[in-house]
Formats: sequence, C-alpha cells, structure tokens
Amino acid sequence: MPRSTWLVEPLRGAHDREGFSCGDATLDRYLKEQASRDLRRGCATPFVLLPGANQNAILGYYTLSSYGIDAGELPPDVAGKLPRYPLIPATLLGRLAVDKRHQGEGIGEFLLMDALHRSLAQSFRIAAAAVVVEAIDDRAAQFYRHFGFTPFPSSGGRLFILTKTVNALFP
Ligand SMILES: CC(C)(COP(=O)(O)OP(=O)(O)OC[C@H]1O[C@@H](n2cnc3c(N)ncnc32)[C@H](O)[C@@H]1OP(=O)(O)O)[C@@H](O)C(=O)NCCC(=O)NCCS
Repeated sequence: MPRSTWLVEPLRGAHDREGFSCGDATLDRYLKEQASRDLRRGCATPFVLLPGANQNAILGYYTLSSYGIDAGELPPDVAGKLPRYPLIPATLLGRLAVDKRHQGEGIGEFLLMDALHRSLAQSFRIAAAAVVVEAIDDRAAQFYRHFGFTPFPSSGGRLFILTKTVNALFP
C-alpha cells in the first residue's frame, strides 16, 4: 500500500465501513454503527485513512473530541506545573484502529501522528493542555507508551501526552 497516496478524511457516507475489520469487535462495531451518530450529535469527529483519493476502503480510523481532565488524576509533578483549575482542557483520542490486513505497515503510527498534529493545530484556537487516549487493552496501552504517552496513575487504560510534548514532535 503506497504511503505517498494515503489520505485522511473526516468520515462520510461513501466510505466502506462494512469492509473494515481490525480484530477487535468493539472497535469494528463502533465504526459501523456508532461513529456517524457520534458525529451528528457532536460527541466525536471520526477520521478515516483511505488508500488514495476517490477510494473508499478504510485502512484505519480515529476519533477526536473535546475533553476535560480532572486535575487530581494527573501525576503530582505534572499537575504542579499547571494552573489549579479543577478541569484541565484536553483533546480525547477516543478510538484508533487499523484494518488487520494492514497492521504492521506503519498505518497506526501515521494515524497517531495525524491525530496529534490535528489536535495540536486545534489547540491554537481552542486551548488543550494534553491529548488523552483510551486504550482498549494492555497491548493498545503499549502502543501509546511506545510513542511517549504516560498512563494516568489511577487508571491503566487511559494515558496522556502534554501538548507541549506534541509541539516538540512537529518543529
Ligand atoms: C495497535 C494498532 C493501532 C497498531 O497499528 P499498526 O499499524 O499495526 O502499527 P504500526 O505498524 O504503525 O507500528 C508503528 C510502531 O509501533 C509499534 N507498535 C505497534 N503495535 C504496538 C504495540 N501493541 N505495543 C508496542 N508497540 C507497538 C511498532 O513496533 C512500530 O514501532 P517501530 O516504528 O519502532 O518499529 C493496531 O494493531 C490495531 O488497530 N489493533 C487493534 C485495535 C487497537 O488495539 N487499537 C488501539 C487503541 S484503542
């Protein structure tokens, strides 16, 4: 699959949701049954990776939403450098998945970097101090740790990366 033609777009009706399978039934079902509804209701914006322009096969997807981190959930050294607001504004990368026929080809990294770059760009308009991810299992959490995310002390399933760290990824 040539990387030079990959294209990330907001999810729309023409995209082939039925053909997508990442090996996790919850993430497959979400794309097929719930993603469009979340978009309509303003709860998540799903983005899909297509092999190229005018192609509707979905190689992978992720979702972004606005989010608030309970400041008490952050590690003390991180919270100490932030204002003492009860909720810290953030962006939620709620779901991310790659079709199992294309896992191991760099698509997960490409999608994650696209999501982080998009979150960073948005943070210049609507402030967000971090990106939070919800990992579905330990393997997924390992994936995010590989790219510099830190688990919340209280919950192994959620991890975060500070916007200033993301900023340094895109000089
Ligand atoms: C986890 C997932 C997104 C990874 O996507 P992928 O396209 O297979 O991963 P990539 O080929 O882009 O891998 C990029 C890098 O991440 C590493 N990586 C991939 N999966 C990893 C994991 N589970 N743990 C640690 N590192 C991982 C790769 O080794 C590679 O590292 P390298 O560049 O240093 O060699 C994919 O396997 C998937 O969709 N799994 C099912 C759903 C899921 O778990 N979603 C995650 C969040 S909810």
